[in-house]
Amino acid sequence: MTGRERSVVGTAIVMAMLSMGLYGVSFAAEPTRTEREFIEMQTSINATMVAVVDWAAHEIWEAGYAETMTGRNWLTTKQFAIQLLASGTLVSLGGNGKADMGWANNAEWQTWSAKMIQETERALVAIDAKDQAALKESGERLVDTCEGCHDAFKPDIPTEGILHVPHHEYGEPLITE
Ligand code: HEC
Repeated sequence: MTGRERSVVGTAIVMAMLSMGLYGVSFAAEPTRTEREFIEMQTSINATMVAVVDWAAHEIWEAGYAETMTGRNWLTTKQFAIQLLASGTLVSLGGNGKADMGWANNAEWQTWSAKMIQETERALVAIDAKDQAALKESGERLVDTCEGCHDAFKPDIPTEGILHVPHHEYGEPLITE
């Protein structure tokens, strides 16, 4: 073996040991869900509903009823559907509002959050297929999920007084200031 060959073999051995070592470390240190550090929600359910859930859902409903959908419109709708999908998990976590953890600790809350996620996944399938009829249909099932959870939990007056974003009220004067 030449010096160069020896050093190549040596390097290979060191690399194999390193990668075994790395795997060993990553298996040992792989955190499970329960062990992982968890950052508490920094927003209330009321605020998350209005700023994320409602905002994204309206775009899905609008797309279901739009007269035409360009490629760009489909892409935009997909972004909102992804927001809504992620917000399902956020909603399931509760929030920093007074009533939020009481809600999140209720099994029925988790069922409704999971349903919202499931319907949003269906909407995403329709979006990927550019199937507007299917999108409209999944949008209708999505409303049932919003209303189901609202009937079970939502107070008549939002706990933090944050209401549905006014400029989503089509046909109403826009608030521009
Ligand atoms: C897991 C339960 C749950 C689901 C699912 C849910 N919501 Fe909510 N939502 C609530 C609760 C509870 C409140 C009231 C929060 C408060 O008052 O602190 C609320 C409040 C709201 C509000 C603001 C209050 C108001 O009266 O205007 C809007 C808007 C809203 N939700 C829209 C939606 C939409 C749209 C969907 C479906 C895409 C949805 N929500 C799905 C539980 C849910």
